[in-house]
Amino acid sequence: MYTLEELESIVSKCNRCDLHRGRKNAVFGEGNPNAKIMFIGEGPGYNEDQKGRPFVGRAGKLFDKMLEAIEVRRESVYIANIVKCRPPNNRNPIEMESKTCIEYLRWQVKIIDPDILVCLGAIAAKNIIDSDFKITASRGKWIKKGKFHIIATYHPAALLRDENKKKYAWEDFKSIRDRYMEIVQMSGKDD
Ligand code: URA
Repeated sequence: MYTLEELESIVSKCNRCDLHRGRKNAVFGEGNPNAKIMFIGEGPGYNEDQKGRPFVGRAGKLFDKMLEAIEVRRESVYIANIVKCRPPNNRNPIEMESKTCIEYLRWQVKIIDPDILVCLGAIAAKNIIDSDFKITASRGKWIKKGKFHIIATYHPAALLRDENKKKYAWEDFKSIRDRYMEIVQMSGKDD
């Protein structure tokens, strides 16, 4: 078993796929190493690649606002992506890239051991829930896989492109808040 620090160091030197060629920084993920909830996006964009941190660009600002709206502190959750290096021109990761990189995410999940996984967008949902996942049809529905409570909602970047999706994302975030509060209360520990 690795520690998060060891894994981050491995990821920072990873050259298992071609995405490493274009990166300024690998974006490992960040947050509470004991988080009960993990948010999983697709992959770094320009700003994330520059800073080496997830969700710090325009979509990240919206994500922060949504967390604030459900009264969850960004520092109390863990945020990661399916791929750790930025795909050129923000294209979707190809299958080989996601399949290779998701091994790091699996390790992160093993180490952090959260109860809830939130897939932000179709790419995360296809990689985590089901390769045929349809975000419009199946967002907002909880599924249980082993110990994990898993839900998918729209990617914040999709909400920036289409305001009409925001009301659905808000419903999903309220549902996420309710499940998260239940789990925090049941565990009897502070988040
Ligand atoms: N979009 C993602 O999917 N992940 C990030 O970290 C930033 C934008």
